[in-house]
Amino acid sequence: MKRITPISKPTLSIDFAGIKLKNPVLTASGTFGYGEEFAEFVDLSKLGGVIVKGISLKPIKGNPPPRIWETPSGMLNAIGLENPGVDVFLSEKLPYLRKYETAVIVNMFGYSVEEYVGVAERLDGVPGISGIEVNISCPNVKAGGMAFGTDLTATFNLLSAVRKATRLPLIAKLSPNVTDVTDFARAARDAGCDGLSLINTLLGMAIDVRCRRPRLANCTGGLSGPAIRPVAVRMVWQVARAVPLPIIGMGGIVTGEDALEFILAGASAVAVGTANFINPQATLEVLSGIERIIAEQGVGDVKSLIGKVSVG
Ligand SMILES: Cc1cc2nc3c(=O)[nH]c(=O)nc-3n(C[C@H](O)[C@H](O)[C@H](O)COP(=O)(O)O)c2cc1C
Repeated sequence: MKRITPISKPTLSIDFAGIKLKNPVLTASGTFGYGEEFAEFVDLSKLGGVIVKGISLKPIKGNPPPRIWETPSGMLNAIGLENPGVDVFLSEKLPYLRKYETAVIVNMFGYSVEEYVGVAERLDGVPGISGIEVNISCPNVKAGGMAFGTDLTATFNLLSAVRKATRLPLIAKLSPNVTDVTDFARAARDAGCDGLSLINTLLGMAIDVRCRRPRLANCTGGLSGPAIRPVAVRMVWQVARAVPLPIIGMGGIVTGEDALEFILAGASAVAVGTANFINPQATLEVLSGIERIIAEQGVGDVKSLIGKVSVG
């Protein structure tokens, strides 16, 4: 058997689609606010990056409550993309985040191609923004969101228009609610995206059998948390083999071991989402877990593990 020599400090930094990350651990959009909400629990400068809650052109109130329902090993949410709009984000939220030494990736969405383009134009060239993550996959709004991300032509046309509106690294966040996610990854590549994020939440529903009503006011919601992790790992693995774009993998990551599953499947970076609600320091624990496991295995650089799952 090969002898393993433990490493004291493995290299964790990576270049993701031109974005310099000090380590591969990011926050998943919508589960970490705009960073400030978690700053008393987490030194944001220790994170590879913060992917902020989705931003639209105008403020959005979101869906009526109840908007969250806990499920076995996960949760359903139908927040409805509540956010203060891009102008308030730029004037009130970004200045706070900019104080930290972490990459800021802005998740954004719209109800029409024009709205997506409008947000991208406003973000272009703003100091302190490292990249844009385009949400084409939210299951909790009636128009936009998933309506784009589940139609190949709409995906290509939308992402091509956003591509023309910004020079920032562009990351498409894909929907898992499709038959073959690799087709959508190819459409994003053809539209000029620099990277991919996957997965967003899976469309789900829960019913209160006593009052015979859905648990969420929106009826359906997005399922997240450990329950979806095997689906997410499978999709990252499929996409990594099909398209040569770097991937941010997410879906149910709670520990360093979970994160390494995604990296071995082909993700270059990972994002921690629902786990932040259970443990506000989940991101830091994922980071120290990755470092400990790869050091024990004598792996000098986390990059050497990307896509290295042995099959067959
Ligand atoms: C409460 C909540 C809000 C979310 N809001 C957004 C959002 O604004 N934009 C987006 O692209 N994804 C959003 N997501 C999806 C997450 O970023 C992530 O893709 C998904 O939850 C899977 O990761 P997880 O299982 O670690 O939570 C949200 C998820 C949750 C649970």
